[in-house]
Amino acid sequence: MSSIPDPPVIATAVRPPVPQGPPTSGTRPLLAASIAGGAVALALGTYGNVHEPTGDSIATFGFPAVLPMKAWFATAVFALALAQLVSALALWGRLPAVDSTPRWLAPVHRWSGTAAFVVSLPVAYHCLWSLGFQDTDARVLAHSLLGCAFYGAMATKLLALRIDGLPRWALPVIGGLLVTCLTGLWLTSSLWFFTNVGFPGV
Ligand code: HEM
Repeated sequence: MSSIPDPPVIATAVRPPVPQGPPTSGTRPLLAASIAGGAVALALGTYGNVHEPTGDSIATFGFPAVLPMKAWFATAVFALALAQLVSALALWGRLPAVDSTPRWLAPVHRWSGTAAFVVSLPVAYHCLWSLGFQDTDARVLAHSLLGCAFYGAMATKLLALRIDGLPRWALPVIGGLLVTCLTGLWLTSSLWFFTNVGFPGV
């Protein structure tokens, strides 16, 4: 007597969906980092506005006066930012002339960024503490706004570097914002100073 084979077991239970997080889990922390950066920019602008500018001098670091020191330091910061831009493009394989990334490029990128931040501090300190947030004309207003935005973008970038699963576009966008702020800062301060006052200290 032939036995009838058991019918195949049909799985009727619906398989629970595989948990799929958002494409990049770092989106929320990135939003938080951006809000923190915005708060930094706002706090600097508020301080510059409510604080009575002292008009006092600070260390000149060997320059004949504070203003030439600031103009040259800001130029150094701008040059370091351009070095950041070029090294970042090379690290991301966006420079057609560079086939392979040398090992020293990542440390150069990191240290030029740190140097730019450190050199900017005495300049911005004098701007905020001695001059304050000013809006006497469009150039000075743009400079004051860009100065605050620069440190906001810097805070966002420093926080973003520590986020796991950061969207791929995030660092190029924040880095581009930083270089843009610095370009505007340099044009509205150092370039203005060199063209109107000259090159004291050279
Ligand atoms: C943090 C927010 C900042 C504020 C509120 C601010 C504000 C000002 C103001 C009101 C002036 C005088 C402009 C004039 O009358 O011509 C000034 C000048 C200048 N700033 Fe800033 N600034 C800030 C950040 C920065 C940063 C980050 C840099 C460069 C790294 C910078 C570089 C300069 C330079 C080179 C001058 C020209 C020298 C002088 O007039 O003292 N500033 N800033």
